[in-house]
Amino acid sequence: KKEKTLAMIKPDAVPKMGSIMESITETGFTITRAKMVLLSRAEAMDFYSEHQAKSFFNDLINFMTSGPIVAMEVIGDNAVSGWRKLLGPTNCSVARSETPQSIRARFGTDGTKNAAHGSDSIASAARELEFFFPSSGGRGPKNTA
Ligand code: CMP
Repeated sequence: KKEKTLAMIKPDAVPKMGSIMESITETGFTITRAKMVLLSRAEAMDFYSEHQAKSFFNDLINFMTSGPIVAMEVIGDNAVSGWRKLLGPTNCSVARSETPQSIRARFGTDGTKNAAHGSDSIASAARELEFFFPSSGGRGPKNTA
């Protein structure tokens, strides 16, 4: 089934964005929108609001606001689960032992600095795409320029 998902390259992996985009397109997906943005703390907290009670929330927000990120709309067959499969496990050490070819194994650092994000469901994808690429109203997070 053709799906849309939100793929986000995190600050640690922005220097590797070319390789990550190549992996996405070589897998057969299409990148239909992309923007580089520097998230404010409020924006990062809103994006990750489902994790606000977690012990790692503050570290996550500090990391996600430490430099620009690249948000992309990715379209393709089973794009939601397919992009997450390409990402590999959340923790990069686990990724390196279980799925050495995955994006997180190749480009991530640890459990927080894990190179990239993917929506976990069709509903999350709709919310997260609207966050970065609003269909009406404002333009979303400001461009880094
Ligand atoms: P992501 O897939 O973007 O979703 C939530 C993020 O929180 C996750 O990637 C990691 O960056 C971070 N995260 C998730 N679990 C942990 C954890 N146990 N410890 C530290 N950071 C985590």
